[in-house]
Parts: sequence; structure tokens; C-alpha cells
Amino acid sequence: MPVPFQELLKKYDVQVPRYTSYPTVPSWTQAPSQDQWLNEIRHTLKGESSSWALYIHIPFCETLCTFCGCNTIITKNHTQESPYVELLLKEFDLYIKNAPELSHRPLRQIHLGGGTPTFLSPQSLSQLVEGIFSKVKKATQHFEASVEVDPRRTTKEQLLALRKAGFDRISLGVQDFNKKVQVLINRLQPYEITAEITQVSRDLGYHSVNFDLIYGLPQQDLASMKHSVQKTLQLRPDRVALYSFALVPWIKPAQRLFQDHDLPTAEKKRELYEEARALFLAAGYVEIGMDHFALPTDTMVKAQTQGELHRNFMGYTDFKTDLLLGLGVSSISESHSMFHQNEKLLPKFTEALERGELATHRGHILNEDDQVVRQRILKLMTQFHLDVPTESEVTVLKNRMQGLEEDGLIEWRGQTLSITLAGRPFIRNICSFIDEHLQKANPVNGQSKLYSKSI
Ligand SMILES: C[S@@+](CC[C@H](N)C(=O)[O-])C[C@H]1O[C@@H](n2cnc3c(N)ncnc32)[C@H](O)[C@@H]1O
Ligand code: SF4
Repeated sequence: MPVPFQELLKKYDVQVPRYTSYPTVPSWTQAPSQDQWLNEIRHTLKGESSSWALYIHIPFCETLCTFCGCNTIITKNHTQESPYVELLLKEFDLYIKNAPELSHRPLRQIHLGGGTPTFLSPQSLSQLVEGIFSKVKKATQHFEASVEVDPRRTTKEQLLALRKAGFDRISLGVQDFNKKVQVLINRLQPYEITAEITQVSRDLGYHSVNFDLIYGLPQQDLASMKHSVQKTLQLRPDRVALYSFALVPWIKPAQRLFQDHDLPTAEKKRELYEEARALFLAAGYVEIGMDHFALPTDTMVKAQTQGELHRNFMGYTDFKTDLLLGLGVSSISESHSMFHQNEKLLPKFTEALERGELATHRGHILNEDDQVVRQRILKLMTQFHLDVPTESEVTVLKNRMQGLEEDGLIEWRGQTLSITLAGRPFIRNICSFIDEHLQKANPVNGQSKLYSKSI
């Protein structure tokens, strides 16, 4: 007899990580020194076949959306943008000077994220990306350049500037198409604005358009979710990220601006996902990982089919590089055996770079056990199954995960652990049982007050 969903929720709707990294940030213990980090970059890019990806964080937004969990600076003061672009270029120069391999090995992916990259003027955007491109070797095959935009603050001129520099992928923040929800999240965004930026992007030659939607926002219900998905389908983006609303008011106090009773219960929240999922599948989209949908023509679908789907701080991606370098305030970089995060506050970030140093805030050096678990969590998050190499480890995990098996969330076939369909909503919980850091801290159910709830 399957366990009723209500009961599963009572047990498993707890605070667990989203696993965009392993170890997760609160479990980072040992930050690399700047020398260690630069050495790691040089070492990682030593091999001729190695490649890398670049993430650049633009923290500025003109207004605050009250659901937002991102690292932002809310300001209408655009005099900040030029000095910030200069700082980013300075930071990159510092890297190139100390790790010239960055100039020699192909850059396969660049992503501008935020905050709001289109806070920058067309001139600032060109200065930034041309400044970077003048110092690197772009991959000749499969080069991807993408930008995240807030359609309310995006112009054709900005998109043209980026397109001229080779950007061909765009992600539009939509969140929800219903006015009553938009009011509560302080983000009035009429359908026409989203439709226009979608069309302008396509006309300019952006061949991949993504929409970000969120389920679990205040005042969302089945009818409003259906409406949001139907509106999305009218514009038929190539990809949709359907994120679970992460409520983290201890990090983002603005999330307290709406009332708890405005939020759907865990059960209703999951129904919102299922409703949207059914509509996307019926419209021909393929479900990717735990929260994405893509048209069958999209490269993510091929990556999922071929077992090449990857997950990092930016979420799911369709390929993996040896290094992800993050520039800008709060950005996280990662390699096979290290994480490195920049200062989260702009003044500290600025001071470090003006001293001619990297703006290291924290990081982690992965030991061998971390590396093994990292691969396992990645496999579960991208493929929903995992081969455990030794019988002794199977025994340990089986014992630890017995409750999950009894509840029908996982199953074992020999040494292969699989997440069942019933287990999919609880994938974060399942990974938390493999997370050795969390298990040490809380062996009962692997939860921690530092994370958003799993549903
Ligand atoms: C870094 S934001 C940048 C988007 C851009 N500034 C905009 O507003 O359109 C990227 C995405 O993160 C998602 N996001 C932000 N806060 C979130 C939260 N608390 N829970 C779930 N998703 C969130 C939103 O879908 C958003 O579009
Ligand atoms: S959702 Fe986008 S625009 Fe809104 S506060 Fe967050 S980063 Fe800024």
C-alpha cells in the first residue's frame, strides 16, 4: 500500500539543501588560500583538452521583489555601474595575470547573472563582455553565452549589444503571470512586456529562450498556476525553470512582507508543481531533473538522454567544464576539488581588489570522501539513480535509508539505488541521507535550520 502523500509530507517536508553544490555552503570548513586557489586553476587547466566556464554576477536591481533570495543591491543609482564594470575587469585581469592558462584554454560558457545584468547600460554591457573576450579564447564548437534578464528593465539596445558580442541564450524572469501574485511579490509585470522581450530576443537571433517560473508563491492556487503555464505556452520558450519557492526569511527579511497565510500549504504547493508539470508534458515539453522543462529540440533533453546532464551553482546545465570561475560580488567558483566564494558585500569586495588581491570570502577544499559523495549526489540529482560500488557501502546506506525504502521513495536493485516516481518530490531529502556532513550533524533526518523546506 503506497503511503498517503499527506503522511509523506508530515515526515519529509523539512529543511534540507537544494544541492547546487556538495558539500553545501554551510558545511564548508577549509577555505583555500589565494595561492592554493590560483594554483588549483593553473593545475585544472593544465591539460590540453581542458575547458572552463565563466559566471559574472551583477548584483544591482532597481526595485526589490519580496520573494527574492538572490544576492542583490537595490538601487536606482546608475553611477555605480561603471566603477563596478571596471572592478570586474580588474578582477579578471588579476586572474589572468596569475593563471595565464585562462587565456589559453577554451572558454565554453559565459553567463551573466544577478541581480539584474540589464541594470547595466548597453555601453557598460559591451565594455564588460568585450573586455573579457579580448583576453580569452572562445571555444570554436559549442560555445554558449547567456544572460538573465528582468523583462521590465530590458531594452532592445541592451540585447543588441550582447547579441553583437555573441550572446545567443536568454533567460527571462517571469515568476507568475497573475496580477494578484505579482502585487504581493512587488513585481508588476504585464504579459505584454514578457511577450515583447521574448519576441525581440528571437528577432535578434537568441536561439534559446528560458522562462523562470516559481511555484509556492503567496496567493498562488491551481487556477492561477494553470493561467501562468497557459500564458507561458503561448510564448513557447525553449526551456522553463519551475523553481520551488525557497522561503529563507532569516537570510532575506523582505520575505516577511507577505503573511504566512498567503502561502500555499506544502500539499497545495506540490499540487501546483504537478498541475504545471501535467500542462507542460501535454504541450510536448520534457521534464528535466527536478525542476526544469525543455522542448525536445533543446540541448538539455539530449544531455539528459545521454546521461550528460550536469548541475552546479547555476542549476542544471547541459555540459560540464573543468572549472567554473565566478567574477563579481558573492560569486562562487568551483573546480574538481575546491570551492571559492567572493566577498558578499560590495565595499569589502572593492577594498580587496583595490589592494590587488582576490576578494576571497570563504571556500572549501574537498577531501576524497567529499569528492565521492559529490559525484553521487550529482548522479541522483541528474539521473535519479546511482550505482554504489561496494557491498559494504550498500549495507551502510540500506540501513540508513531503510525508512525511505519502506515509504516507497527509493528502491534497491542489487547495488543500484533508484528514486521512485513517488520519491521524486523528495529528492532533496533522499540526497540528504547521502550527505555525510549533514548526517554527522543530524543523523535523525538530515535536516538543518539553515535551508529552505524540501517541498
Ligand atoms: C537571480 S534571479 C535574476 C532574475 C532577474 N533579476 C529577474 O528578476 O528577472 C534568477 C531567478 O531566481 C529565482 N529565484 C529568486 N529568488 C527565489 C526564491 N526565493 N525561491 C525560488 N526561486 C527564486 C527566480 O525565478 C529568478 O528569476
Ligand atoms: S527577482 Fe530579480 S529583479 Fe527581483 S530582486 Fe531578485 S534579482 Fe532583483
